[in-house]
Amino acid sequence: MAVQFHDLAFPAGFRWGTSTSSHQVEGENTNNDWWAWEQLPGKILDGGRSGAACDWWNGRAQEDFDRAASTGQNAHRLSIEWSRIEPYAGRWDEDALDHYREMLRSLRARGIEPLVTLHHFTNPAWVAAIGGWTNEAIVPLFEKYVRKVVSALHEYVDFWCTINEPNVYIFCTYVEPLFPPGRTSLRHAYASARNFARAHAAAYQAIHEIQPAARVGLAMNLRIFDPANPASPVDRYLARQHHLIFNELLLLGAHDGRLRLPPRPERIPGLAGSMDFVGVNYYTRDLVTVSPRRDLHFIRRYPTPGALEGDGGYGEIYPEGMYRVLRWVAGLRLPIYVTENGLPDAADRYRAGFIVTHLQQVQRAIESDIPVHGYYHWSLVDNFEWERGWTQRFGLWEMDPVTQERSIREGGKVYAEICKSNSIPAGLVVKYGDGVLSGRDNFIPGCSAP
Ligand code: BGC
Repeated sequence: MAVQFHDLAFPAGFRWGTSTSSHQVEGENTNNDWWAWEQLPGKILDGGRSGAACDWWNGRAQEDFDRAASTGQNAHRLSIEWSRIEPYAGRWDEDALDHYREMLRSLRARGIEPLVTLHHFTNPAWVAAIGGWTNEAIVPLFEKYVRKVVSALHEYVDFWCTINEPNVYIFCTYVEPLFPPGRTSLRHAYASARNFARAHAAAYQAIHEIQPAARVGLAMNLRIFDPANPASPVDRYLARQHHLIFNELLLLGAHDGRLRLPPRPERIPGLAGSMDFVGVNYYTRDLVTVSPRRDLHFIRRYPTPGALEGDGGYGEIYPEGMYRVLRWVAGLRLPIYVTENGLPDAADRYRAGFIVTHLQQVQRAIESDIPVHGYYHWSLVDNFEWERGWTQRFGLWEMDPVTQERSIREGGKVYAEICKSNSIPAGLVVKYGDGVLSGRDNFIPGCSAP
């Protein structure tokens, strides 16, 4: 049967944006735990440091907002840096609040709706010094900070994400010691999961007290875990356990109030129903099996052999995972935003195809009545990629951290066409659509012959 290509339309009012986070773009965030971590030898892959990052704090945010607006974006997700707002316990920096107010005002002036994340991986140095997320004292401290920020900025924002990817934070801090303070400890992992859940619940209530009409959610990194050998009960069991711990624990907790930590689930007061929307950060999938090397974790996770991957072994490019994740999240019956999705690809070989094929899956979800209201590509410009420093480039714009020069990549141009037309134009489907990346015949999910 002949395959027909047509524009894949998105609903009116769909949010098209990009995502960033304070430490990765602002520069000179000298007062948080990441800054200190970057100074230690061996902690960052290329010995890189955030340094001036993308120089946003010095004013370059404005020109990047122009780039976003001129390429048709109507939404941007950014984060507020706690260490700037409260550099010392109980000492608030009103100038920093003014600075953020100005950034948000200028987004609005360009017709870009801000979605503001209140915690994106970094902690003020003084919070880290008392044990960070392992210390339950962080819950009221975080709530105070949230109250301060929301009271100061609510004129420009009504769309909040309390915490970015607590699951990644816990994994990268207490399982794989990649994030500061890099201490492998199950006890700390459990304690921080509890405190993230409590802090999210407290922030949710606090924001609604200050701004009753606010939309408040959580951004979770949701990953597909498939059994390496689907016929193996052991592989199936391991894949399921990964899903339960990584994807479900905090997300289902924020839905029904029960944190399913061993040995028995715990009810966290105020946690049930503490999301007005779900923020989905989707990147990749893992195949899971028992490790033949019997290494530390007795488990091996790896990409499908032969699959295309992002730079530096970031994981396989698996567009269908987007649809699977959205279909699963749809069970929560909440509005969904794809708050991150992107690819490290310095040479820009796959970015355009990545964007088109993942958005085909978002559109497929919308066609099956899954309420996805927006997509925020990670990221607007290349930025500081945590323990991988400057080795991984996610930007729609290439950015040289030394000269601060930017230039748009092909992927950025393709994304602009999509944002401006509120659709994936047929020409892009033909050129980059599903089937091109995978080498299979082009087809549009849902309208072509199998
Ligand atoms: C994080 C971002 C990060 C991106 C790409 C997400 O897990 O929220 O901060 O840069 O992935 O690795």
